[in-house]
Amino acid sequence: MNVVNEKCEVIRNERVSSDGHILVLNSRDISRQTLPGQFVEIGCYGEDMILRRPFSVFDVSSESLSLFIKIVGKGTKWLSELNSGSIVDLIGPLGNGFTVSSKSRSLLIGGGCGIASLNLLSRKLFDSDSNSDTIFGFSKPEEIPQEVIEGFQKRANRVLVTVDKGPYPFIGNVVDRLKEIDLENYDRFYCCGPTRMLKALEPFLCKREVEVSLEARMACGIGVCYGCTISTKHGSKRVCLDGPVFKMEEVEWNEM
Ligand code: FES
Repeated sequence: MNVVNEKCEVIRNERVSSDGHILVLNSRDISRQTLPGQFVEIGCYGEDMILRRPFSVFDVSSESLSLFIKIVGKGTKWLSELNSGSIVDLIGPLGNGFTVSSKSRSLLIGGGCGIASLNLLSRKLFDSDSNSDTIFGFSKPEEIPQEVIEGFQKRANRVLVTVDKGPYPFIGNVVDRLKEIDLENYDRFYCCGPTRMLKALEPFLCKREVEVSLEARMACGIGVCYGCTISTKHGSKRVCLDGPVFKMEEVEWNEM
């Protein structure tokens, strides 16, 4: 797989929640190589912005690549305001990606931006004749990207959504929803979201076949700066190069 630098035109920029946008970009080189769980680095060229930002790939087609942008700072705000026809500079695909097994029974668990890499994974699992269920956690109801959730509902048997603060039919975190589920129904688990969510899941899932996609601050995204290093049972690893997907059992969670 080749990492390439591609200039991509914005085809569509659609607001899907109070702080979330789907940015659809024209791409042939990166989109055709990307695996679920991989990410791209985008150059954001507004005032005081020099570093590229990492984003999990939300979806791909032979001619396009989509990203889920949650507005959390200057760079993401700048991206959320791009109009059709704008050009952005991408490097990718980066990182290792999830393992997709055919005919598996999977549970996908995501929090916040974790919905991004799980979307492409869910599509690939569906295409591989695998069954999947999904749990999503958000901070507030207005942060739920309803149309994205509906996409998951078409592919999954069951989609459970929870929010930290209501009003919403279910208030709680993803662990609360996990407790409703018989884990024996699944042979694989995929988790993506903030580190505190992954740490909370670990005691419940540590004896199982689990892949986690880690979030980290990334300056270079290509293994050069060592700014994203974590401790694992096999020594120090770089999230951008050796991950972002790791087996849950391999991460030293006490040091995260
Ligand atoms: Fe530079 Fe990972 S971000 S080594």
